[in-house]
Amino acid sequence: MTNDTTTGLFISFEGIDGAGKSTHISALAEAFKAQGRAVTLTREPGGTALAEKLRTLILNDAMDALTEALLIFAARRDHLTTVIVPALARGDVVLCDRFTDATFAYQGGGRGFDLDVLSKLELWAQDVQGLGRDFVHELGRKGAAPAIVKPDLTIWFDLPPEEAAKRLAGARVPDKFEAQPVEFFRRVAQGYADRMAADPLRFARIDANRPREAVWTSVHGVFSGRGWLP
Ligand code: TMP
Repeated sequence: MTNDTTTGLFISFEGIDGAGKSTHISALAEAFKAQGRAVTLTREPGGTALAEKLRTLILNDAMDALTEALLIFAARRDHLTTVIVPALARGDVVLCDRFTDATFAYQGGGRGFDLDVLSKLELWAQDVQGLGRDFVHELGRKGAAPAIVKPDLTIWFDLPPEEAAKRLAGARVPDKFEAQPVEFFRRVAQGYADRMAADPLRFARIDANRPREAVWTSVHGVFSGRGWLP
């Protein structure tokens, strides 16, 4: 795909807590804006007023694993239909801090929740056919509307869980996920590896266990390699 400003780009960013996504996402937003692209910078869970309320519950309240998955997909559905899909239809670059791979990695890998149930919820929550709007077809890009909305590219910041734990130590009051033991994050990291193995062309794995500048060079290289940034 070229840097065609009429074509929306959907990019998600993933990794265990402490992997250091944020500064690179902000830098990418600036780089795309410098190219004259409209950027929608957003995050999950969250990105809408409703989804941000759900985020507070998801990150802080105790609940069973299915309830957690349902709330995450409810937040995702609201975010997708009211923010992401319209932004892609406008031709924006959508930079989303986490998306569905996080659910497979955290709820599936970390919590051990049933992956088949997550796949079913993914199909329901990310199906935009029923919206019956022109932008569904625009999103198809080549005429056919997509079955479900997925990122064009997912950047996975891969950091050893022990290193992430060191970075997070004392940084802030941990939420429900940040407070998990290192074994949980080993399973999350394996969850990301499994997602990448299942869809290798969508993923770019970045070795995040390096100085920030080196990580940025790699991240930028993925975008310039695809012709999306100079
Ligand atoms: P953040 O701190 O990177 O914004 O992510 C919020 C937390 O929510 C993080 O610990 C990962 C977790 N999370 C899930 O467990 N499942 C999901 O689907 C998403 C998007 C996030």
